[in-house]
Amino acid sequence: MVKLDKRVTWHRTDDASLNFQRWRVAVIGGTGGIGRSLSRLLASRGAHVIVVGQTFRDADTPNIEFIQADLSLMREAQRVAALLPAETLDLVIFTTGIFAAPERQATAEGIERDMAVSYLSRYAILRSIAPKLGAQRSAAARMKPRVFIMGYPGSGQIGTFDDFNAEKSYKAMSVHMNTVAGNEMLVLDAAKRYPHATFFGLNPGLIKTNIRDNFLGKHSLKSRLIETLIGWMTPNVDAYAQHIVPLLASPDIEIHSGAMFNQKGRSILPSSGLTNAHVVQFLSASEALIARATSQGVTS
Ligand SMILES: NC(=O)c1ccc[n+]([C@@H]2O[C@H](COP(=O)([O-])OP(=O)(O)OC[C@H]3O[C@@H](n4cnc5c(N)ncnc54)[C@H](OP(=O)(O)O)[C@@H]3O)[C@@H](O)[C@H]2O)c1
Repeated sequence: MVKLDKRVTWHRTDDASLNFQRWRVAVIGGTGGIGRSLSRLLASRGAHVIVVGQTFRDADTPNIEFIQADLSLMREAQRVAALLPAETLDLVIFTTGIFAAPERQATAEGIERDMAVSYLSRYAILRSIAPKLGAQRSAAARMKPRVFIMGYPGSGQIGTFDDFNAEKSYKAMSVHMNTVAGNEMLVLDAAKRYPHATFFGLNPGLIKTNIRDNFLGKHSLKSRLIETLIGWMTPNVDAYAQHIVPLLASPDIEIHSGAMFNQKGRSILPSSGLTNAHVVQFLSASEALIARATSQGVTS
């Protein structure tokens, strides 16, 4: 159950007056779904946006540049991190994601696929770019460089790391909840680790996109029914992007690095149980799995 955090507040600026001229933005997962909507909106307001994903759908949209990558592979995540101009970025948004499949899927580097795409690739990119973020921005920049990590923070998931790669037993939902927990921990840890930048979690709630395809079966009847229901009951992807974009630029949250925000942009409490000791152990297990993946030969 997500709970509101009344200590963190911000004032919404009229969306139409928001100008992102001269902002340099990277959206990891900006080729589809929520990330794509955010990318297009930011670009239409003048930002230069680099999107990372598998399939580029906005070649005709001004101000959007594409880096193609399969982020199920940690070597690809490391390559993307090296390509991103971290030193000049004002804003980084992570929206890459899939849902764990009913049967375990492993990447060519031997990692469970949902863990790889939805969490570990983000870990690898973030750890590589965060120390350099914004180092060459103009001294006139009014805010620290910002990172928003989208997932499902505040929902009480703290994750387990005894069978981190789901090799002994596999349950799609448990694996996906480990990615949810991992992304929340990335925010909490980065907020302490990198004081020259700010880090925030985004919980979009349910939005009709392709995120559940891997679990429900792309174009299956079940998928169409569930996505139609979600579409009826929740804001569409562009409405969510419109609503959340003022938060991305709000000066009010500058002093609240580590905060998380729900679908409406209201601050929510982090999941209870994410103690320092737990976060350290979970992130060490993440690091070890990435190291194992990148040290092995690719198997298929
Ligand atoms: N939609 C919801 O109901 C919901 C609910 C809770 C949380 N979220 C979170 O919101 C975020 C965005 O989800 P979404 O709903 O917008 O999902 P989406 O429509 O499926 O978009 C996912 C993005 O990830 C990229 N991606 C997937 N596999 C990739 C791979 N192997 N390599 C590189 N990029 C890859 C996709 O790029 P390509 O299309 O180019 O492959 C796309 O840009 C995720 O963190 C998700 O967990 C969503």
